[in-house]
Amino acid sequence: MDLERTPGHDSAVYLENDRLSTITVDSDVFAYPEEYGRTYHSLQFEEANHPFPNDEEAQDLERERHQIYLDLHDDKLYLAPLREPQDVLDLGTGTAEWAIAFADKNPQATIIAVDISPIQTTWVPPNLLCQVLDIERTWDFNRLFHYIHVRDVNCSIYRPEILVGQAFQHLHPEGWFEIQEPISLDMQNISPSSGYLTEWLVNFNGAVRHTGRDPDLARKYEDIMMKQGFVRVKTVIKHLPLGWWPLDPKLKKLGASGLRNFLNGLEGFSLRLFTQTLGWTRGELEVLLGHVRTELKDMKAQRYMPIYTVIGQKPSEAAVGDSVLEWLHDLRDL
Ligand SMILES: C[S@@+](CC[C@H](N)C(=O)[O-])C[C@H]1O[C@@H](n2cnc3c(N)ncnc32)[C@H](O)[C@@H]1O
Repeated sequence: MDLERTPGHDSAVYLENDRLSTITVDSDVFAYPEEYGRTYHSLQFEEANHPFPNDEEAQDLERERHQIYLDLHDDKLYLAPLREPQDVLDLGTGTAEWAIAFADKNPQATIIAVDISPIQTTWVPPNLLCQVLDIERTWDFNRLFHYIHVRDVNCSIYRPEILVGQAFQHLHPEGWFEIQEPISLDMQNISPSSGYLTEWLVNFNGAVRHTGRDPDLARKYEDIMMKQGFVRVKTVIKHLPLGWWPLDPKLKKLGASGLRNFLNGLEGFSLRLFTQTLGWTRGELEVLLGHVRTELKDMKAQRYMPIYTVIGQKPSEAAVGDSVLEWLHDLRDL
């Protein structure tokens, strides 16, 4: 069944549609397993094994983070030098805040926004289509894109080379790929008074590695994109203060939001990774989180979270057409 979300309904409705892709899903995508009072993406996408919740609480924090990303980047939805792109793809769209804002500002464009969790509002602009897709599996869109965007899927991606390769193959020549990712916390920014925070971070990163992912991926996308054949590859690093320690009033406000969001998200980020992956009890985790919260509120440490944006362009001479199909065929054989 090919699916398209229909705007204008107050509950999630998907219709058969053969215009955009041949993604196969069923109603199980709405069956969210519950653990410790939080819900997670459907077991239909068990392979994706995304470690963070998808419930209202997580969605509220995600919406707040959308504004934080905008404030940190001078209100820019993207850093790539786009010129009225027609076909746009947003990978791991979540609540689709970014995709909705992009669609509103670019009425000339058609945006496809995909995620393993169909949590997006049904009240979306008419030029935005939300679909269910595990972005680490083979994409089957019947079109190439002028711009592909990914934000905040850190700690979820197992095979970044394949992800970047699919993006390359699904772009028009001269199309842009952009990925924006935080690094949980930089060890260099953690002061000696951060013993519990360090313990949390070492375990968190260890658990992410244990699941087969790289918590430091943001730093590596530039290299991965260049190896794939992208040109004009560039990384922009912004520092999100965690707390109200900056003197600059704008940064102070941003830092307060950044810290509040991190504190409120901490339990959700940690539950699956600490209990399932590392075998901690819920009680052990809560004790550590209590100490971590206290340390995070100490403004003397002046902590911040680095946010990486990596952009790259598919060269104009890059092959298109049949090569996409051949490449996808090869991918299926991997
Ligand atoms: C933190 S949210 C970010 C949402 C959005 N990109 C943003 O920046 O506001 C991460 C999203 O990635 C999605 N995700 C994780 N792994 C995925 C995968 N393999 N395929 C599709 N979506 C995935 C999750 O379901 C979640 O909605």
